Amino acid sequence: MVYRAPVAGRAWFPASIEGRLIVLRRHVPENLAAFRRWYADPEIARLARYKDGAMTVDEIDRFFQTRALGTDSMTMAIHVSDTDRLIGTCAFSQLDGDNGSTLYHITIGERDAWGQGFGTEATRLMVDHAFGTLKLHRVALSVFEFNERAIRSYLACGFTVEGRSREAIWRDGRWWDEVSMSVLQPEWLRRSPTAPVDVATGDSPRPGIAARLFGR
Ligand SMILES: CC(C)(COP(=O)(O)OP(=O)(O)OC[C@H]1O[C@@H](n2cnc3c(N)ncnc32)[C@H](O)[C@@H]1OP(=O)(O)O)[C@@H](O)C(=O)NCCC(=O)NCCS
Repeated sequence: MVYRAPVAGRAWFPASIEGRLIVLRRHVPENLAAFRRWYADPEIARLARYKDGAMTVDEIDRFFQTRALGTDSMTMAIHVSDTDRLIGTCAFSQLDGDNGSTLYHITIGERDAWGQGFGTEATRLMVDHAFGTLKLHRVALSVFEFNERAIRSYLACGFTVEGRSREAIWRDGRWWDEVSMSVLQPEWLRRSPTAPVDVATGDSPRPGIAARLFGR
């Protein structure tokens, strides 16, 4: 049997995805100023960057052009629904239709927007899109061991720790593990109220769990 996820062309890249607290939209060139602020922040770099220290303006500009405006990845701006404020960005990179997999990334660049459920909802919406629309099989990510806020958020979205690269990161004067996490489509199917019942396995949505995690 040939498997191929529909990740080619623009059809898989929606103009927007609506959530309860946030809405995801395609980036526009005007978002560059926000990128320059977010990625020059040493705390964002500490939490998410392999290289020590924040990105230079040139690096940020290149990153914005290729990652946010380019078509090799599916990158969405995160806006607060009530105010339309732009607070961050999230992306699927290395979309692999042959193997049904992708890598997930997220940065809420506005620090005052941390810890209010925005990141968790953005990740949930992206995971729903990956499995519900793109028919992918696996979404994976890497996170530094000390980034507890991110790890808690990913766990709440159904990701599982699948491995660790021991002492791969030197930060704050010591070594830390890089943690690998992933979620598979059958796992998503078992917990998502939006997922259709899987006729092959009989798996059905479990609204109780989703309601507790996502308030719906
Ligand atoms: C990681 C990130 C996406 C999470 O999004 P968020 O909107 O801040 O987080 P949420 O409010 O949705 O959820 C955070 C979870 O961590 C918990 N949390 C909040 N602050 C925390 C802290 N300082 N330490 C540990 N856990 C914390 C929350 O209680 C929540 O867990 P719970 O649902 O089990 O209660 C966001 O903080 C971010 O972009 N940070 C900077 C860049 C980054 O770290 N990116 C990820 C790289 S892998």
